[in-house]
Amino acid sequence: MEAPAVSISRDLLAAQSERLVGLDPLLPRVHALPPGDVVTAGLSDGRLVAGVLLRSENGPGMVPSLWSARQAHEMFPLVGDAGPEGVDALLRVWRQRLERLGPPNPDSSCVVTWPSRDATVTRVLLDHGLVPLSVLAVRLAPPPAAMTVPDGLLIRRATPADLDAVHGLAMAELRYSALVGGAMVRPDAGSLKRGMLRSRLLAGDPVWLAEREGVTVAMAECGWSDPDPDSWAVRLPPGRWAYVNCVSVLPGARGRGVGRQLMDAVHTRLATTGAAGTYLYYNPPNPLSSVFWPRQGYRPLWTVWEVRPADALR
Ligand SMILES: CC(C)(COP(=O)(O)OP(=O)(O)OC[C@H]1O[C@@H](n2cnc3c(N)ncnc32)[C@H](O)[C@@H]1OP(=O)(O)O)[C@@H](O)C(=O)NCCC(=O)NCCS
Repeated sequence: MEAPAVSISRDLLAAQSERLVGLDPLLPRVHALPPGDVVTAGLSDGRLVAGVLLRSENGPGMVPSLWSARQAHEMFPLVGDAGPEGVDALLRVWRQRLERLGPPNPDSSCVVTWPSRDATVTRVLLDHGLVPLSVLAVRLAPPPAAMTVPDGLLIRRATPADLDAVHGLAMAELRYSALVGGAMVRPDAGSLKRGMLRSRLLAGDPVWLAEREGVTVAMAECGWSDPDPDSWAVRLPPGRWAYVNCVSVLPGARGRGVGRQLMDAVHTRLATTGAAGTYLYYNPPNPLSSVFWPRQGYRPLWTVWEVRPADALR
């Protein structure tokens, strides 16, 4: 027999999924609850909502520390069909819980990931001091098209021998993203990126370079993702998805069509693999990528709301 809190949470999750897929048909139905502490809140009409609280520590040597606070507190809201009123009640309860955590940690955050199209809840998240720091955006695969010929650019797959060039471009992207989003250039960022990229290249993951007159001017570092429909963290519709992890054009070559031509080639090649589509994260405050990705056919599915440090939650 399930504990009452679990059974209530399951009912709320089912009603919530129903409401959310009505707002955005690309959202997957979520069937599983995350493991964590459950908090509840009562609404003015007597209904109960719940939230699961998760905590992750992203210490030195951990790749997520390049985009997450060292100590990240996350809430997974379960508000059924209550929408904004439910999320507001949970954020109030969460705020009180944070006060019990002891002295504030300057490198901490509160995080809520919520469907981008739920505008009524957006208002509530803003009012509690959360910021739309990142967006998971998707692009459904169009029918395969003829390859366009880039103008003076050579586009080719990267091999392990290209590690230095790929690493240099990844660090340029990290430095820029740290100015305009949640990324952070940690002291060990160089070695973390290098290790991650070496594994990707050795695994033969799809990574492409753009070269002009023998000089590498851009790269698109991609991978594959097969979302588990039974996971509480599922974010995408079923199928095989290509993941665009990092696209970077050398600072002196930006704004001249290199990124567009590189992604044209990448999308055309990925479309021949049968992938359902491509997805990526971008930072809405990034003045380059927030224009670039929608022009490439991407649109927001989930928004990652954050406030740093955690005790700045209102
Ligand atoms: C985002 C990025 C990959 C785009 O590549 P790019 O070669 O600079 O972009 P393009 O020249 O192909 O331009 C595509 C669009 O982006 C915008 N854009 C890009 N750079 C611009 C610049 N320096 N000034 C003005 N607009 C710019 C333009 O709107 C342009 O569209 P348009 O040509 O139809 O006007 C590249 O600017 C970059 O590496 N930026 C820093 C790292 C980064 O933000 N990476 C993405 C993280 S998600």
